[in-house]
Amino acid sequence: MKLDKDHILDSEEFEGEEKFEETLRPKRFSEYIGQNQVKDNLKITIEAAKKRKEPIDHALLYGPPGLGKTTLSSVIANEIGVSIKATSGPAIERAGDLASILTNLQENDILFIDEIHRLNTVVEEILYSAMEDFVLDIIIGKGPSARSVRLDLPKFTIIGATTRMGLLSSPLRDRFGLVHRLEFYEPEDIKKIINRSAKILKIKIDEKGSGEIAKRARKTPRIANRLLKRVRDFAEVKGRGEITEDIACQALEMLEVDELGLDNTDRVLLETIINKFKGGPVGLNTLAAATNEEIDTIEEVYEPYLIQMGFLERTPRGRKATSHAYDHLKIVKKDALKKQEKLL
Ligand code: ADE
Repeated sequence: MKLDKDHILDSEEFEGEEKFEETLRPKRFSEYIGQNQVKDNLKITIEAAKKRKEPIDHALLYGPPGLGKTTLSSVIANEIGVSIKATSGPAIERAGDLASILTNLQENDILFIDEIHRLNTVVEEILYSAMEDFVLDIIIGKGPSARSVRLDLPKFTIIGATTRMGLLSSPLRDRFGLVHRLEFYEPEDIKKIINRSAKILKIKIDEKGSGEIAKRARKTPRIANRLLKRVRDFAEVKGRGEITEDIACQALEMLEVDELGLDNTDRVLLETIINKFKGGPVGLNTLAAATNEEIDTIEEVYEPYLIQMGFLERTPRGRKATSHAYDHLKIVKKDALKKQEKLL
């Protein structure tokens, strides 16, 4: 993913950002706002597993970035009262990396694997028997002297997180007893999250101020918290340190985040479909080339919200801008088409 430090949507962690997210991360279900259905299901799973004194089943959490997959995993660990070790698909390069992680786990521990769709096939295959039978089959040595050894592992739980469920192989998917999809948050929940974060960070904000940030936070807690921080800076420099509706509007306008949370790249994507490809359908590769964005970034970061808001459609022949997109961007379809005919 492109590293652009001014970008609100960029999911790369940059300096200070990780610590900031950590401070705000809820520790227990009672502090975790939203995702009620997933929470209710998990509470039952945890209570039942506790009664049986067993680890919970392996769990897969999926959904767009920033909705709280990592946070929820650490809440689960806290609720059960076990340790959680965190790694990611691309970080486990070799069988030996996985062996070292798994053999260091304690009974009932949780291993969190972020971006689990990016595990390589060798590692993935070793993971199967580890997940199913809590054994590790590894090959030691090379050539004729190579031999296979089987190591027993403590009973543990894997929590996998992915933004791309479709890229997970079916044998891996089938090994998760619990599969939960995280949804975009309701605006009232985003507002509660902003108020909670403001309280922790000792930021003064009024109801209309948090409502304004919530409206533009793409239904995503991570973005809400980032916007809160940027608006606080604005309030300290241009205002009197307190976030009001007016300050929030001014700050967000300066950040080019519009009333529905679309940023410059969202608008460029939609305008490109409309102005260069007659509103679509246009293939993802072509769209990426025309906008100079990466395919994965478009698919994982931008599209989910644009689809959720009804601005974009995925069709078998490519991406299409909807009439809502024309309305929001104040583009008249007939005029856009005429302009393109003239250019041809
Ligand atoms: N911070 C980030 N996500 C949150 C959530 N779901 N609830 C409360 N605070 C959060």
